[in-house]
Amino acid sequence: MYKPHTHCRACGYAKRGLGKAGEAKPMHKVLSLGLQPLANDFRTELEERAGHAPLEVLVCPNCGLAQLSVVVDPKILYSNYSYITSHSKTMLDHFNVIVEDIKREATATRSVLEIGSNDGTLLSFLKNNPFEEVLGCDPAENLCKIANSKGIVTFCGMFTAENCDCQKQKDVVIARHVMCHIDDWQDFMRGLERVTHKESLVCIEVPYYKDMLERGSWDQVYHEHLSYMSINAMDWLVRETAFHIHKVTHYPIHGGSVMIYLRRNESSVKPVFKYAEALAEGYPLEEWKELDRRKAEMIGQLRLIVTTAVTEGKRVVGYGASAKSTVWMNACGFTKREIAWIADNTPQKQNTFSPGSDVPIVTDKTLAFDQPDYCICFAWNFFPEIQKKEANFKGKWIVPVPEVHIV
Ligand code: TMP
Repeated sequence: MYKPHTHCRACGYAKRGLGKAGEAKPMHKVLSLGLQPLANDFRTELEERAGHAPLEVLVCPNCGLAQLSVVVDPKILYSNYSYITSHSKTMLDHFNVIVEDIKREATATRSVLEIGSNDGTLLSFLKNNPFEEVLGCDPAENLCKIANSKGIVTFCGMFTAENCDCQKQKDVVIARHVMCHIDDWQDFMRGLERVTHKESLVCIEVPYYKDMLERGSWDQVYHEHLSYMSINAMDWLVRETAFHIHKVTHYPIHGGSVMIYLRRNESSVKPVFKYAEALAEGYPLEEWKELDRRKAEMIGQLRLIVTTAVTEGKRVVGYGASAKSTVWMNACGFTKREIAWIADNTPQKQNTFSPGSDVPIVTDKTLAFDQPDYCICFAWNFFPEIQKKEANFKGKWIVPVPEVHIV
């Protein structure tokens, strides 16, 4: 189900092995959640669960990239993926912003490839605006079907140097929240070389680790997120490739993300990025250790609020069956005794169970109908949108990040 990961996928630290004379020491272990179920393994009663795998973060002694100590088989993680991008207004607003930014940045705008194109929503914003030729690529069969039915031609499969079926060179290549899911970054970069030309623009959006550390959002650590990207690590990665960092832009989506624009080294466009931006990040070992301490504190706080409420006979539920909800539920050891259900607007998740805790996932209409005493907003990154939508809820919200608090 999973394999150990011991060398840095950005700078190659410890590639030649560990422990023998003259060879590298292991990467620093900075955060651990023990054995955890797969965060998006939402299954019905009859379906088999994928099982558990260790969840711990290592930091590279050389470039500082934080990465998981194991790699779960991507076939298990992605063949039927329940995360759908088009189900949130916050996300659609973000797409409107990045579409304009990408159009402004690109020097050629006829063809675009999106790697990890999900249900084709972002590409539908770009189709004929002004891109005449749009192509998606995603490993999840259920999502490719949705995209193709909307007229967004989508190749179903992982994007690898061998298997991209999209080898025609594109003016723009987009990969949003994809690199953190990929094990072999060198192969990914070779794939990018095949699908780009001299003036192509590559737009890589990733959750930014600094935001995650500042916000205390340790719940973004789960098996799909193999790495926690820094600008410094990206700079190390591109050194041996045909690309350089052209520019970095920061966005608030998903609790803080960066768009890293890459251009080929032979590009005629002068880079805006200065290496000082990467240097300014510093080396993150202590910050990651601090996140581990903060995690223990936050788990204790949420457990105390929930168990006190339950002891007083109050009903507690969750909202947003995000991957983050699975991390919280299992880290706190919650079961149906503490959390009656978790509401979610994704049809694929409804009538399934939260991985590990087996708490039922119900439709988002249940909150207004059922009126529990407390509702934990596990999709805290969408809290303003959710609170507005659920204005008829008369109980209290519990928001767990950046601090566990009752609203
Ligand atoms: P995410 O934080 O990983 O994007 O997941 C958010 C989850 O919350 C996703 O399963 C969809 C769900 N959700 C709702 O149920 N209602 C909403 O209004 C929003 C914004 C999200």
